[in-house]
Amino acid sequence: MAQVESRFNFVEEIADMNNDRHDRPAILFLCLGNICRSPLAEAAARVAFAKAGIAATLDSAGTGDWHIGHPPDSRAQAEARRRGTDISDLRGRQLTADDFYRFDLILAADANNLREARALAPPDATARLRLMLDLVPGRQGESVTDPYYGADDGFAETWADVSAVAAALVAETSSG
Ligand code: 4NP
Repeated sequence: MAQVESRFNFVEEIADMNNDRHDRPAILFLCLGNICRSPLAEAAARVAFAKAGIAATLDSAGTGDWHIGHPPDSRAQAEARRRGTDISDLRGRQLTADDFYRFDLILAADANNLREARALAPPDATARLRLMLDLVPGRQGESVTDPYYGADDGFAETWADVSAVAAALVAETSSG
């Protein structure tokens, strides 16, 4: 079963994060604009890691440059507020080659983000690059749908997806 095997390998990779370059797991969440999905993923991970009492370096970025320096989309901010967390101080930034050394793991929201990131990755990159939902049992290979052009309830769906990712990350990090 390829899917099970790929998840198993991924879990081992995450356990390895505790042993290598950084003194705490360093995880970067990536999407296109860095104003909807990846800030929500960063927020969900901050909440989940804090609740578990695990120190982690968490950040987010976009492959595009349109929203550099911008706060998250107001609908993403509202969704975060509904879930009890404030993301108004986050600011958009673009993925850089340096991120491939600064982070252990770069988690892309969708297949396009993954492809763009692969194109930017230096040959000696030390970060692992995966889809966010590769971490969630039964969701491997799936993309987190971009809510930017859709209705407001798309953001609740995004929150559900990124919360599942955050829970899986905490579970795998603490079992390493
Ligand atoms: P995100 O959503 O990648 O989840 O932040 C988008 C935000 C902005 C744009 C596209 C997607 N845009 O084209 O400006």
